[in-house]
Amino acid sequence: MNIAVRYYTRSGNTKKIADAIAQAVGVEAKTVGAPLSEKTDVLFLGSSVYAGGVDTAVINFIKENKDNIGMVYNFSTAAFPMSTYKNVRKVCDELGIKMAVENFKCRGSFTLMNKNRPNEADLKEAAEFAKSAVGQQK
Ligand SMILES: Cc1cc2nc3c(=O)[nH]c(=O)nc-3n(C[C@H](O)[C@H](O)[C@H](O)COP(=O)(O)O)c2cc1C
Repeated sequence: MNIAVRYYTRSGNTKKIADAIAQAVGVEAKTVGAPLSEKTDVLFLGSSVYAGGVDTAVINFIKENKDNIGMVYNFSTAAFPMSTYKNVRKVCDELGIKMAVENFKCRGSFTLMNKNRPNEADLKEAAEFAKSAVGQQK
């Protein structure tokens, strides 16, 4: 099974989750600046909530790599209990890309909020999410 991890981050929170997921499934996490060079069965796609939405870099990545994406598993960080799932879902639906309902989200530090998040417990949960997602595809 071909698995890839891509993420978008500004302050590093989502990268922490991306690295935990990548380690759990035995691949390297890369930013959305790295195109998918081959067809992936499972794409873990990470992003964070900015002004209630998702950065256009994430949307552009999906559009530009659509032919190489099998199934998307979304993960995201945010200051509040929010997620980028719906934003990513909308684009995937428009492009006919399969996206799992199962997704991972956790708090990310923002100014004085959520100090040290994602924390070790978040990383552990993310790793378990990833292993479970890959298990579902087998
Ligand atoms: C300009 C800006 C806007 C943000 N807007 C939101 C928001 O609407 N909702 C939310 O929950 N968090 C918001 N956040 C917090 C980020 O989503 C949170 O810090 C996230 O973990 C950042 O992830 P990153 O370091 O991977 O970019 C915002 C942060 C910034 C800097």
